Amino acid sequence: METRHQAAHILMCAPEHFAVTYSINPWMNPAAWDPASQTLTRQAHREWKRLHQRLLQLGAAIDLMPPVPVLPDLVFTANAAVVMDDTALVAHFRYAQRQPEEAQFEGHFQDLIAAGVLRAVKTMPEGICLEGAGDCVWDKSRQMFWMGYGPRSDLAAAKVVSETFGLETAALELVDPRFYHMDTALSALPNGEIMYVPSAFNAEGLKQIHDRATPEQRIELKPKDAAIFAANSVWIGDQVVMSGASIGLRRQLETRGYRVIATSLGTFHRSGGSAFCLTLRLDHRSEKAALRQAS
Ligand code: ARG
Repeated sequence: METRHQAAHILMCAPEHFAVTYSINPWMNPAAWDPASQTLTRQAHREWKRLHQRLLQLGAAIDLMPPVPVLPDLVFTANAAVVMDDTALVAHFRYAQRQPEEAQFEGHFQDLIAAGVLRAVKTMPEGICLEGAGDCVWDKSRQMFWMGYGPRSDLAAAKVVSETFGLETAALELVDPRFYHMDTALSALPNGEIMYVPSAFNAEGLKQIHDRATPEQRIELKPKDAAIFAANSVWIGDQVVMSGASIGLRRQLETRGYRVIATSLGTFHRSGGSAFCLTLRLDHRSEKAALRQAS
């Protein structure tokens, strides 16, 4: 299929049914959403469309997953699965509110197999939570996953990921409830930089980051950037799409050769998500698999 060879292939889901109707993280407050829901819904549609448009402009192919009533968080497709080398490892969610999404995502991945986009769909072993790429961030330059555990995913998921894909998986505990998914706390940029929220990790987690990233490769996010989900960014080539960035952060990224594209996603922040959460890369390929294919 043609899209296979696109630079970026992304799964998104339009916010038809997006709202904050329950609370499973500190950002979510249904009582604050409710009275303004009409305005916020319109705003969410505008913000999502702009993000979608931006990604298309950057050359991404975007696959759209059909929205489903009563599943407001289905828009956060990053949580659908860990997708690598044409295989999707479907999420198992911590909270009952999101568990019905699992079957929806699995069904859509089966459709993607039929369309020739994916080759295999796998599910998690009974009782082990893993909330997809949201908690399992692919680091292209190091050829490894950064997995977050604690609030949502289980530490035991790290072994499942490394065995499923045959790739190194570093598991870091997430200790700040506001940064409850790895993708809210850490971004692995394509040239090896790690952009992260230091307070989201404990000493052991910070040591893992320091062991793998040189001081020049580390971009520590200040609380102000962390709070606007700067870590939750999507990169395509050297373009980094994020909800917003301080002048200082912008400069740090630009001096490293990236271009920052800011597109506001404030309504999604009310649910605890931003740019990365609203997207799932379907095209990640490991060097190992490329070598296997070539031989
Ligand atoms: N309201 C959603 C939840 O709490 C937000 C998910 C954001 N997604 C992400 N990949 N961080 O699960």
